[in-house]
Amino acid sequence: MKILNKQVLGNAKDAGIVRIEVAAPDIAKKAKPGQFVALMVSEQGERIPLTIVERDPKKGTITLIFQVAGLTTKLLSKASVGDELFAIVGPLGHATDIKKYGKVIIIGGGVGIAEIYPVTKAMKDAENNVTTILGTRTKVILFLEKELKAASNELYVTTDDGSYGRKGFVTDVLDELLKKDKYDLVYAVGPIPMMKRVAQVTKPHGTKTLVSLNAIMVDATGMCGCCRVDVGGKVKFSCVDGPEFDAHLVDWEGLTKRNRVYIDKEQHICKLNQL
Ligand code: FAD
Ligand code: FES
Ligand code: MG
Repeated sequence: MKILNKQVLGNAKDAGIVRIEVAAPDIAKKAKPGQFVALMVSEQGERIPLTIVERDPKKGTITLIFQVAGLTTKLLSKASVGDELFAIVGPLGHATDIKKYGKVIIIGGGVGIAEIYPVTKAMKDAENNVTTILGTRTKVILFLEKELKAASNELYVTTDDGSYGRKGFVTDVLDELLKKDKYDLVYAVGPIPMMKRVAQVTKPHGTKTLVSLNAIMVDATGMCGCCRVDVGGKVKFSCVDGPEFDAHLVDWEGLTKRNRVYIDKEQHICKLNQL
């Protein structure tokens, strides 16, 4: 589990978006778009889920892209090429159901842009007509634009502050597209408020909408129940039943509340570690 390559992404060095290529031959053999790993930087640390963005079964490597959010991603960003990670388990979660849907819109918000990359490539390879919408707060934290443009038939970029692409939100573009044309699938990954809004925009059009949920995970193998989410009135575990779910059935309020539960403790532990 050695780090073989490391690169800072985004348009500024301090954007806090890092790509690492890690030796993980067994995971590289099996991983499919939509799946993730649970990773421990050190023996004392927590496990965090990260999406498998790319894999190279011949080299035996997987690529992960992460945004520095708190303690564990800060520690991971400080690891260098040649360092060993303590543990990686995967591939976890159900793979995306890749098939020919027809006209597909794929939306990535923030670090969700990394998570949509393997799905976008696979949807295009399955002969779908793919329109991709990327959204970030500002230009410096936009990444993978060139790669996603190559993997899409059409690509739009929005920034909240208007520093690049169109000023506004991904859902502004989504709304316009759905009013003009009929689409067979919308697939979205990003912050919870963004995915919730995507669901609200697509529902009146009756467009099938999938989201990959970023519920808090502890063991990530279905044992602890931490990642539970209400989907259509049934309790589901995001790690083993998901991470993808029908956006129109997700209890967004419940998920929002659960994802805030540890914020005080997360900030406290960062202060203790002077990070
Ligand atoms: P903290 O300060 O501990 O947390 C910051 C925020 O991250 C929290 O408020 C919470 O919303 C979220 N978070 C914290 N701990 C967890 C946890 N154990 N599980 C899930 N979310 C948590 N991020 C990426 O940058 N790139 C990815 O490819 C990616 N893929 C993901 C795939 C899945 C299936 C899930 C569930 C999450 C994914 N994430 C991804 C989110 C990533 O796991 C969190 O950013 C990370 O755990 C933050 O840890 P931290 O200690 O640095 O920050
Ligand atoms: Fe424990 Fe999903 S993380 S059940
Ligand atoms: Mg943490």
